[in-house]
Amino acid sequence: MKIIRTVKEMQDWSDGIRSTRRIGFVPTMGYLHEGHLSLVRKAREMGDVTVVSIFVNPMQFGPEEDLVTYPRDFNSDSEMLEKEKTDIIFYPEAQDMYPQRYTTIIQVRGLEDHLCGRTRTGHFIGVATVVAKLFNIVKPHFAVFGQKDYQQLKIIERMTKDLNMDVEIVPCPTVREQDGLAMSSRNTYLSQEERKKALLIYKSIGTVETLFRQGEHHAPTLIEKAKEILGSEAGMDIEYVSICDKDTLEDIDEIKESAILAIACRVGRTRLIDNTILMED
Ligand code: PAF
Repeated sequence: MKIIRTVKEMQDWSDGIRSTRRIGFVPTMGYLHEGHLSLVRKAREMGDVTVVSIFVNPMQFGPEEDLVTYPRDFNSDSEMLEKEKTDIIFYPEAQDMYPQRYTTIIQVRGLEDHLCGRTRTGHFIGVATVVAKLFNIVKPHFAVFGQKDYQQLKIIERMTKDLNMDVEIVPCPTVREQDGLAMSSRNTYLSQEERKKALLIYKSIGTVETLFRQGEHHAPTLIEKAKEILGSEAGMDIEYVSICDKDTLEDIDEIKESAILAIACRVGRTRLIDNTILMED
C-alpha cells in the first residue's frame, strides 16, 4: 500500500495506470469504521486498483460545526486499509487542496434545499466541490458512496450527470452496529447514556417500516409516529423527520410506490442522521 500526499503525485500515478486498470475510489474523511470498509470491499470487488482518500474537508463544515474536533486517527485508518488490501491512500494537506486564491465552488441547486441542507448552509457546496476536485485528482472509473448519507449520494449523482463526469457512482447500503445504530465516525462523541438514546432513531425507522408495510401510506401520519418515538426521551432533539421523493428529495404527502424516510437528530451535542427506503414489496 502506498501513501500519496500531494495532488501532483496522485494525478501522475492515476495518469500512469488509468488506461490499463480500472480505478475504484472511496472518498472518506478518515476515522474509519466497518461502514467505510464495506465501501472499500465493494471497490476492490469491482475494480483492479483501489484508492481511498482521507481528507477532513474544511469547506463542508459550518462555522459552528466540529471541524477542529472531528475525530482523526491516521495510523489506525492506514492499518485497517492495509488489511483490506487498499492500493493507495491519498492523504493530502488542506493547502494543497485549497491553495491561496482558491475560489471555485460547485453548487447542485434544488437538491441541497431539502433535509440536511435546510440547516447546514453551504455544506453540500463543500461536499460537491471537494468530490469534484477528488475526481479530477484521482481520476477513478467509479466511486463508492454509502446510502447513509443519502442526500450526499443524490447530489454527487446529479453533479456527475450534469457535468458529464466520466465516473460511475456506486451506492452501498448503510452498515449498522449489532443493535441497529447506523455506523458513523461521529458515534464516538456519544456518552453511554446518549448511545442508548440514539437507538430511538433505529426504533422509529423500524416502526415506520412496519406501519408502511401494513398499508399506512399517509406521510404525515408516519412522520408523527416517528416523532412520537424519538421524542419519548429527554435529550433527543429532532431536527427533521421527512418522507420525501427518492430522486428530488421533495416532501411527499401520500406515498405511491416508494419514498425515503430521513431523520436528523441531535443527541446531546452530537448530530446523527439515518434513513431508509420505504418500498412496496
Ligand atoms: O462522506 C464523507 O465522508 C464526505 O462528505 C466526503 C464524501 C468524503 C467528502 O468530503
